[in-house]
Amino acid sequence: MSVTDDIKAKLDILDVVSSHVSLQKSGRTFKANCPFHTEKTPSFIVNPERQSWHCFGACATGGDIFNFVMRAENLQFGDALRMLAQRAGVELSNAPNRENSNAIHSVNSAAAQYFQDTLESDSGRAAREYLDRRKVGRQAIDQFKLGLSADRWDGLVQYLRTYGFKKEDAIAAGLIRGGDNGQVWDFFRNRLMFPIFDRQGNIVGFGARALDDSTPKYINTAQTEVFDKRNTLYALHFANAEIRQTGIAVIVEGYMDAIAAHEHGYKNVVASMGTALTENQVAQLRTLAREFVLALDPDDAGQEATLRSLESSWHVFRDVISRRNTANQSVLNQWTPPTLKIAALPAGLDPDGLIRTDADRWESIIADAQPLLDFVIPALVQRYDLDIPDSRARIVSEFVRFINRLDDMDQHSYRLKIAEALGVTESDILASLARQRDRRPRSRRHEENIEQAIEVSPSALRTQDSDPIEEYALSILIQNPDLVEEARSTNPECFRRTDSRELFTALVSYPTIEKLRNEVDEVLAERMRRLESVELPSTGVERALSQCLRRLELRHIRETQELMLDTEDVRLPPSGEVEAEVKRASLRIKELETMSRR
Ligand code: UTP
Ligand code: MN
Repeated sequence: MSVTDDIKAKLDILDVVSSHVSLQKSGRTFKANCPFHTEKTPSFIVNPERQSWHCFGACATGGDIFNFVMRAENLQFGDALRMLAQRAGVELSNAPNRENSNAIHSVNSAAAQYFQDTLESDSGRAAREYLDRRKVGRQAIDQFKLGLSADRWDGLVQYLRTYGFKKEDAIAAGLIRGGDNGQVWDFFRNRLMFPIFDRQGNIVGFGARALDDSTPKYINTAQTEVFDKRNTLYALHFANAEIRQTGIAVIVEGYMDAIAAHEHGYKNVVASMGTALTENQVAQLRTLAREFVLALDPDDAGQEATLRSLESSWHVFRDVISRRNTANQSVLNQWTPPTLKIAALPAGLDPDGLIRTDADRWESIIADAQPLLDFVIPALVQRYDLDIPDSRARIVSEFVRFINRLDDMDQHSYRLKIAEALGVTESDILASLARQRDRRPRSRRHEENIEQAIEVSPSALRTQDSDPIEEYALSILIQNPDLVEEARSTNPECFRRTDSRELFTALVSYPTIEKLRNEVDEVLAERMRRLESVELPSTGVERALSQCLRRLELRHIRETQELMLDTEDVRLPPSGEVEAEVKRASLRIKELETMSRR
């Protein structure tokens, strides 16, 4: 995640904007009188799903939290960034060192190539046969860049040496290990290699599976500057677009599960790498999905460890989506939170097994996923023998840990559900809880009350993430400054990411790249350096640029149009102004589509 993404994942535009204007819910969006110009009827719209704002009135402009704060507080991008970083609790100076991460990315990418080559070589036969037995097809092998680490101590060491990679970088990437005497050796040996991509598609680490039943089954890259297993969702890079489009993220446990899903066209699937959901993982998905579906390993369902893990995922999920500014509770109360659901797979089949034997069944199981708490109730009831005295009280006390931070209405409705499952009444449940509370020490009760008091209603969120088209267009422009003229007519708002937009605006307004490079804010300078190192084709970049810009404009107009339609109160005919805007947008969309087809 880039710093700006990180900040966006942690702040809600509703909070940021409502400290300046008072928002009213209107359809899926929120309305207000525009803070940037004087008006009587509200034409300022905030869309929490997109985490964007737009003024359809005199300003005719919009953006994200960064643009908003820049305008509202009259700040430069860098200052807005620093201010919001502080508010979000994001440490700017702790952002990974770009230079170094680049080195790690590139040595990882070379290693992945070596592993792929090894898989295709003579010595890769057994591994190829293994993949074949597991029904992993050619296309998936290529897409996920699966490979094999050779069964020797210096295969990768030699390879990287041949290609001039620095030993230090390979060590920093966790690919090779070194002893005191300067000797180095391959960390991964004789294992099936799964490169792990970040959201931008950089290879940040590897999972490495034994080719037989030996343990450990997987070895993963240890923590490095760019890799932390807990912050990683395997296949997110490939699932990003689909999750955003469907609003649903399906979370499986294993590499093999994610690959099987993608191979069968279920492209909104990511793998949690075998752990309960972490805060960082939820934060990454929250920006894309309104519904999270956990595909639960059947052998674990109902087990103590699973319940603990679900409890942890549940609290993490609730915490991340509800970490909000209490001042804006009234606004937030009007918003529907995302849901966390559980899909329980049939016994003996993990997602990989199920998808490969009965894809239809997988589909219906995912579609029938239940909200987590509705899943937990029967799971808890099954764990205890109801004939044993006290078992009901125990179930209630377990269950209450899931619901004690919900609002009153929800607590009530879940108390009814658990009461029904236990064959008792809600007052029995309440009485049991009161008894348990009385047995607990005072101080703890006090803490819980405070916790409850500061808890606010959750809000659905989504922000932006890396955007390949924007990146590509900017790389072309930065590496071919003579093409900047071609881009001058493009509205900077077509760039979704704030830093892209800022960079683009700077590119078209500075006389030369050198001047820009010297004067631009450090955050953007870093981004520039990265874009400068993107490899471009040697011919046809001009055409590629105009295609990119067209796509960006098309997307921007579609989104703006959608926003206009969303905002309209469905019970009223659209105002003349909006109607005219929508028409104009439709015409431009047609125009752009025709150009793209040519
Ligand atoms: P699984 O054991 O379900 O792995 O662990 P899998 O991907 O389905 O592999 P197959 O089907 O047995 O070949 C789920 C995930 O937990 C992590 C890995 O990310 C794995 O994909 N894991 C598991 C480890 O990191 N280390 C281990 O030793 C085992
Ligand atoms: Mn498996």
